[in-house]
Amino acid sequence: MDSRDLLTAAAGHAADFLQTLPDGRVGADVLDVDALREGLAVPLPDGPGDSRAVLDELVAAATPGIVRSQSPRYFGYVIGGALPAAMAADVVAVGWDQNAGGYSVSPASAVVEEVVGAWLIDLLGLPAGASFGLTTGCQQAHVTCLAAARNAVLAGAGWDAEVGGLQGAPRVRLLVSEERHVTIDRAARILGFGTAALVPVAVGEAGLIDPAALRAELAAGDGPTIVCAQAGDVNSGGFDPLDEVVAAAHAAGAWVHVDGAFGLWAAASPRHRRLLSGHAGADSWATDAHKWLNVPHDCGLAFVADPRPHHAAMGVSAAYLRASREGERDGSRWVPDFSRRARGFAVYAALRSLGREGIAELIERCCACAGRFAEVLGAEDGIEILNDVVLNQVLVRFGDDDDATDAVVAAVQEEGSCWMSPTTWRGRRAMRISVSNWATTSGDVDRSCAAILAAASALPAMGWD
Ligand SMILES: Cc1ncc(COP(=O)(O)O)c(C=O)c1O
Repeated sequence: MDSRDLLTAAAGHAADFLQTLPDGRVGADVLDVDALREGLAVPLPDGPGDSRAVLDELVAAATPGIVRSQSPRYFGYVIGGALPAAMAADVVAVGWDQNAGGYSVSPASAVVEEVVGAWLIDLLGLPAGASFGLTTGCQQAHVTCLAAARNAVLAGAGWDAEVGGLQGAPRVRLLVSEERHVTIDRAARILGFGTAALVPVAVGEAGLIDPAALRAELAAGDGPTIVCAQAGDVNSGGFDPLDEVVAAAHAAGAWVHVDGAFGLWAAASPRHRRLLSGHAGADSWATDAHKWLNVPHDCGLAFVADPRPHHAAMGVSAAYLRASREGERDGSRWVPDFSRRARGFAVYAALRSLGREGIAELIERCCACAGRFAEVLGAEDGIEILNDVVLNQVLVRFGDDDDATDAVVAAVQEEGSCWMSPTTWRGRRAMRISVSNWATTSGDVDRSCAAILAAASALPAMGWD
């Protein structure tokens, strides 16, 4: 069988799967690990096998364990689907199999990255002249941005972190929200700051940084300081007051990093960009394309206002690498990876297929759907919406009871017409709904609300009989 037939068969398998999205169970059909192993954990063959048979058997054995996270009724975590144009571009990119590390190994990947970087800086309202890198996800975007921050704040204290590392360096403080995402902690560990360097800044009732508390923490110490703020809390979708955070941090000489894994996309919406007021004054921003832009996994985005510490932290050169000429981009000089997947093609296709207006519409429709969840569910006795639904996240509590809330989430997951995950918000269990898929409509919300209400009504704790 030649490659063309095999790739056509592969595309057919993928398309067959996509056709199951409207009506298929949203969660995986099979969750049992032993059942999945039974089909997949065959002995490693001694010799070569037929490629078509390998493909077909892999698809048959894996499909039961595939989550329909591309379904318009998948509301778990913050996953997003895959826009058709982005998915198609990624399929071609697999065929091209480019190493997007440097211009010489893939000139087209380099130019496409350069183009999407410029588009994104404009779309996300970031300062012209900011540098950027395409990473595996927001986690690695944090690592990239905070490495640049480490370089800059230590240089400000007279220390060259690229040569001296952290051994003997002035101590760096990281002022972080009490409600920060866990990937900030891991970035601090990876970069050698350690979690002991994290200084939690108190948040108010809504889980947002209290500017007075931030000012007090800034005043309580000195030396190199980095402030990490959030644009879009992973639970509530809330935004720290970025204008006040940036003003206070800069007055104290600190670097401001913004975790905008999904919330930074509010900048693309005329209706929602006010939430980000002041964000352009920060020093670095981390976000994802694989969440709200709906490109296939994986793609994160790191932006740094001043390219110099960014390049100093990530740049690399060797005799066997062709030095790039003026105006040629080497993607690997802006991220921690050397060899890397050509992520830019899918991002390019997503941005071009939607255009500015399409992206704004995607963001606004998701937010409107989140609002509809809150309105429909919040209207029922015994159901409480715990967050201020400013974006695409909704936190729902049932019977003001942790166990009842977990039971409703479990029943909804089991029923299968939609899927959402549980969380704990400000000490109380909640169903966590994230609307981040390009295909979700108000009809999907209504169908999901019906499933949620049916699950809740079966619970004696709700007292609805
Ligand atoms: C606010 C926030 N920051 C960071 C991350 C990590 O993103 P990734 O999984 O792309 O590394 C997430 C993931 O949900 C998030 O919501």
